[in-house]
Amino acid sequence: MKKIVLLLLALGAASLSMAAGDSFVNEKAHNNIRSTDSLRRGAKTYMNYCMGCHSMDYQRYNRVAKDLGLTEDEMMASLVLTDAKYTDKMEIVMTPEQSKTWFGIAVPDLTVIAKARGVDWLFSYLVNFYQDEKQANGWNNLTLPNASMPHVLWEMQGIQKAHFETETDAEGNEHTVFKNFEQVTEGSMSQEEYRNTVRDLVNFLDYSSEPAKLIRMAYAPWVLLFVSLFTFLAYMLKVNYFRDVH
Ligand code: HEC
Repeated sequence: MKKIVLLLLALGAASLSMAAGDSFVNEKAHNNIRSTDSLRRGAKTYMNYCMGCHSMDYQRYNRVAKDLGLTEDEMMASLVLTDAKYTDKMEIVMTPEQSKTWFGIAVPDLTVIAKARGVDWLFSYLVNFYQDEKQANGWNNLTLPNASMPHVLWEMQGIQKAHFETETDAEGNEHTVFKNFEQVTEGSMSQEEYRNTVRDLVNFLDYSSEPAKLIRMAYAPWVLLFVSLFTFLAYMLKVNYFRDVH
């Protein structure tokens, strides 16, 4: 038994250190899935800036409308920007073949990306784009180095450059470490506004990866209330029964 526990711990530690080594996650999302306003804003940014390339094949427009408290008309007017129907899946027109030709990679579907990557990873990814002349599309990303996705929100965030330093470790090996970002062009938003926009977007991706979470979160306070009431009653009953036990 002890060996199994130790093995599990070792596996856990190994996967954690691999995850940490692979990607640079330096900011937390702090998103709130219970905020419908935030989810609506996030959905809007998604439809406007991401749906051009990323499908959400396991999500339907009418489901999103229902969960976000929108009527069919509101949904069609503000969030369905293609000629898709209300009951359609959130698919894109680009085929995987076209995607491979244009980006060298099949652009991933984002329905469950928040489950795969985690919200903090997504947040960091969307704030960590920087200008890099060495890349074919002019952009690079600290969280997903050499990503083939351009910085599609650059007009909001502005353009930043990354500064790196070379450090030598105890064994004499040289490592390139990230030092800081330098803002070279201002965006249409302040850094705080941009982070709030990204937070809403990540919130929408978080919801989309598990729509049932909304229902769970809504029930949670009632379940807790029931459990506390029941505990109280059980306790009173115990006090009553044990009154005569000496
Ligand atoms: C012009 C097309 C395009 C647009 C628009 C676009 N992306 Fe991407 N995205 C890509 C490509 C290509 C990749 C694959 C990057 C790679 O792995 O090199 C990618 C990768 C990603 C990934 C990483 C997936 C993973 O786990 O590897 C996330 C997350 C993502 N995009 C989110 C977004 C969001 C959010 C938006 C909207 C703000 C967006 N993308 C808009 C093309 C696009």
